[in-house]
Amino acid sequence: MLNDIERVLLSEQQISDKVKEIGAAISKDFAGQDVLLVGILKGSVVFMADLMRAITIPLAIDFMAVSSYGKGSKSSGVVKIVKDLQEDIEGKNIIVVEDILDSGRTLSYLRKHMMAKGANKVSIVTLLDKPERRVVDVFPDYTGFNVPDEFVVGYGLDYSEKYRNLPFIGVLKPSVYQD
Ligand code: IMP
Ligand code: MG
Repeated sequence: MLNDIERVLLSEQQISDKVKEIGAAISKDFAGQDVLLVGILKGSVVFMADLMRAITIPLAIDFMAVSSYGKGSKSSGVVKIVKDLQEDIEGKNIIVVEDILDSGRTLSYLRKHMMAKGANKVSIVTLLDKPERRVVDVFPDYTGFNVPDEFVVGYGLDYSEKYRNLPFIGVLKPSVYQD
């Protein structure tokens, strides 16, 4: 697995420090409110697991699965709900937890979907953001790191379902997805 990584972009320590920072900010901003954290499968699972333990206020969790990328490294542009919410979100404050914000299509679609289901407020936390790649306007409330327009893997992020279990975030060697 390590042979496919061009370079480490964010170390375990950098990620862990940032997750604690975001957890503290959310705990402060949402104190006294009913919060539902919604992780977007599968990329956000590692971030979600760490982030929820860095939040000190009571919360509930749920997950959604959407597909927009298929198996490759290029977006299809179409967002499809593969697994919907189990919790009733009417009147709730939702915090959507995403691994990476790229074109913005996924989060823009999800925000609309949740508002249509009666959510009181939909906030967005993304670990990574590639602002140069935005096609649809989405403004995250909490961002871990801005990253360059390169394909990154690890800490939940995959290429063709691989590399999610790397504890750091690295840039994938282009040769891995070019042939
Ligand atoms: P968007 O709808 O284009 O913003 O796509 C967001 C989704 O694309 C993320 O949840 C990821 O699953 C995937 N994605 C975008 N860029 C990368 C990357 O560099 N590595 C791994 N997955 C990515
Ligand atoms: Mg993915």
